[in-house]
Amino acid sequence: MTRRFFVGGNYKMNGTKESIQNILSHMNTATLPSQEVVDVIVSPPSIYLTLAQGLVNPRIKVAAQNCHSNASGAFTGEISVGMCKDIGLEWVIIGHSERRKVFGESDEFIAKKVKAVIDGGLSVIFCIGEQLSDRQSGKTNDVIAQQLSAVLTSVPNWTRVVIAYEPVWAIGTGVVATPQQAQDAHKFIRSWLSSNVSAAVAGDTRVIYGGSVSASNCAELSKETDIDGFLVGGASLVAADFVTIVSTAHPKSSL
Ligand code: 13P
Repeated sequence: MTRRFFVGGNYKMNGTKESIQNILSHMNTATLPSQEVVDVIVSPPSIYLTLAQGLVNPRIKVAAQNCHSNASGAFTGEISVGMCKDIGLEWVIIGHSERRKVFGESDEFIAKKVKAVIDGGLSVIFCIGEQLSDRQSGKTNDVIAQQLSAVLTSVPNWTRVVIAYEPVWAIGTGVVATPQQAQDAHKFIRSWLSSNVSAAVAGDTRVIYGGSVSASNCAELSKETDIDGFLVGGASLVAADFVTIVSTAHPKSSL
């Protein structure tokens, strides 16, 4: 068995109708490795999700950057899983460190969202990662374990989860984790899955890396045994760079 590579572009709060159209038309015509080799996902701001969904060819999927755990109601500014499904999305990013830090989302709220997305029939790009101070005090694995434990009982089906390891100190800083640092964290995540879920889930679940991934550093990272792809911020807004990153696809054996 092989874990298909997975590359997502998280546009965060960036882009315009015109710039998103330009990126997506470039990607639609680019030569990408086949669907069997790599999943390609783009995640524009929610106001542009319908636009993107209408533009991308079927090779490329669109993800929401966030959604609420409730099905509907008085939650001004939010979108629901049902709405994502209604416009044909298959993926939602949950637990991004900016949601955790800037918007104060708790582990508990994130767990509810993960459950809502999976119960709603969509799949989750579940983000975890330590702060610089955690790493400096040797707590990286503790933080990762705690963030994973928080969703353990909320995941009925791990085939619907991709785990994005995004060390906070590497996000938007230009300071990318070294291949060894990323590999160590990914290996730990896989061993956590093996101990807490099952060996099969540990072998099959994609664990992708995010944090200052670029066209020039992706090739080295992609070779690591436990790195199954990338969640890309800034570089996903430059279509040619994102295509280069997608093209480093390097599926790994799940055995
Ligand atoms: P950058 O690639 O801009 O560091 O962002 C990473 C990220 O947060 C993707 O979700």
